[in-house]
Amino acid sequence: MAPEAAPRTETPHDEATIRARVWRGDRRGRFVTYEVPHRENQTVLDVVSEIQRYHEPALAYRFACRVGVCGSCAMTVNGRPRWTCRTHVKRVVENGEITIEPLRNMPPIKDLACDMSAFFDKWHRAGGRFEGTATRHDPPIPVDPASKTRRHADAGIECINCGVCYAACDVVSWTDDYVGPAALNRAWTLVNDERHADRRGTLDKATAQGGCSSCHAQGNCTTHCPIGISPTRSIAGLKRMSLLDLLNRRAP
Ligand code: SF4
Ligand code: SF4
Ligand code: FES
Repeated sequence: MAPEAAPRTETPHDEATIRARVWRGDRRGRFVTYEVPHRENQTVLDVVSEIQRYHEPALAYRFACRVGVCGSCAMTVNGRPRWTCRTHVKRVVENGEITIEPLRNMPPIKDLACDMSAFFDKWHRAGGRFEGTATRHDPPIPVDPASKTRRHADAGIECINCGVCYAACDVVSWTDDYVGPAALNRAWTLVNDERHADRRGTLDKATAQGGCSSCHAQGNCTTHCPIGISPTRSIAGLKRMSLLDLLNRRAP
């Protein structure tokens, strides 16, 4: 059954408009252009929401928090992966136009929503699951915030799993097998977390086939991460750690 049309309300603004070219459909879809008001402090997610509300009720896209916390609103904007709720239109509009597509490197499901299953599966494949060394009944384990390992873990811990780095990574595009920057950044935080019971297992998984040695270290992931994490540095740390580990294992 066709989706019921949303009530059509006049948009409360008639200033300059922008043209938003939006991907519609799945892999075999096409761009459809919508004209929407250009407002002060408008974000790309505001544009998508406006289109869904006033022009195209069936438009599929994801968002939750609107404040850069949940990581669900990432899309390709004018060819670059971005978090749309914190991307202001005035920063990206070109000649009155913006182009909005689903993230690269993940199969499109419909319109602006893509299938992130492989992204999260790879996160687990790289050893990203935390296993505690204590139960809730044990006293809290003191962790020195100034220790080298804790500072390494803290540098990557705020990842919101938006998938922007994964969409920006050319090695992910070329190699299905590569687990990608977000999964390896997560692994780096865990191998440096003394509360994690399986640091050895995480290191082994992150350095296995399709792991950190596939990274070409060109840094696209770091350039695009919206919250300033450097997966490139985390991956370099994993490479260094695995080499030291190998040398230690070979030492008589
Ligand atoms: S530095 Fe590595 S993970 Fe980051 S974009 Fe380049 S190849 Fe991908
Ligand atoms: S490392 Fe940055 S870009 Fe990659 S998933 Fe985490 S927050 Fe997003
Ligand atoms: S909607 Fe939550 S990060 Fe954008």
